[in-house]
Amino acid sequence: MSGKKFNIAIAGATGAVGNQMITCLEESSIPLKSVRFLASHRSAGSKLNFKGASIDVEELTENSFKGVDIALFSAGGGTSKKFAPFAANDGCVVIDNSSAWRMDPDVPLVVPEVNPHAVADYTNKGIIANPNCSTIQMVVAINPVYRKCGIRRIVVSTYQAVSGTGKKAIDELFDQTRSMINFADYEINVYPHRIAFNCLPHIDVFLENGYTKEEMKMVNETRKIFEDDSIGVTATTVRVPVFYSHSESVNIETKEHISADEVKSLLENKPGIKVVDDPANNIYPLAIDAAGQDLTLVGRIRNDESIPNGINMWIVADNIRKGAATNTVQIAEILADKYL
Ligand code: A2P
Repeated sequence: MSGKKFNIAIAGATGAVGNQMITCLEESSIPLKSVRFLASHRSAGSKLNFKGASIDVEELTENSFKGVDIALFSAGGGTSKKFAPFAANDGCVVIDNSSAWRMDPDVPLVVPEVNPHAVADYTNKGIIANPNCSTIQMVVAINPVYRKCGIRRIVVSTYQAVSGTGKKAIDELFDQTRSMINFADYEINVYPHRIAFNCLPHIDVFLENGYTKEEMKMVNETRKIFEDDSIGVTATTVRVPVFYSHSESVNIETKEHISADEVKSLLENKPGIKVVDDPANNIYPLAIDAAGQDLTLVGRIRNDESIPNGINMWIVADNIRKGAATNTVQIAEILADKYL
């Protein structure tokens, strides 16, 4: 680092991801001059802690970014679409966690373990996009195999935690579960159906092709991050009654043959990955173990015996940390270290 200190703002600081961004920033090596916490007018005047200090939450406005070097956004797609250009116009680099800018060809979509070089393209629009949570953990885990053998096709099914929907969904799962075990009536507000003791094969809106928007995010973002439109990707995304950590069943067809044992050794000690794979002792990645830490856990690695070049794996990561806040702050660290 150059010795420079940075002014950093978090837009959506009062939300589930924004709160985690605060923690990740506290843990980060980025030298800070100041932090600003921004949210809607509803939260203006409330306080959030940062390294022991109590900081006022301010209302996010078009003028919030004067003098700010880096803004981390997690306040919903509409808010990012509206306010990120004002931030960029004031010379602030936005790292946006929403889906608003991800597929803009001028906006880099970055997972530091996979395509850190893409950060350089922040100069196009002053905006860098953070991928979808399910995409991040999948590409972190399959990247070493992609680099060694190439990947022809990916079939993924996800088991996604409610925290990905935000604070209201965390409360809804808690409230419905408590009501049901007390034989009381429950309310359905966040999802179209009850989430407690249920699985919903429906994340984000349905599109004309029958897939959900979340499923197509996994298809399009994976290709953009690998800069490879030849990869076939088909996804089924499912919301499950888990608070934190997304789990994924991922099947890949490689271009060149690789055995399950070779995949295991390839993934050992790769940045951001922890192999958790000892089925004989009931050891495999679990949502409850992934929660609260930054590594992507990979296990159940085995040959797909139905095709010549197939591998199956079970990939689990904390969707609020590596799937959102940690990845965003890691991008900020690269920016601060190499570019600003
Ligand atoms: P607020 O808490 O004031 O509503 P979550 O994803 O957990 O629901 O959090 C969403 C975050 O985005 C919160 O910090 C929320 O602030 C913020 N937010 C939502 N809408 C706006 C808006 N129009 N302007 C600024 N911040 C917003």
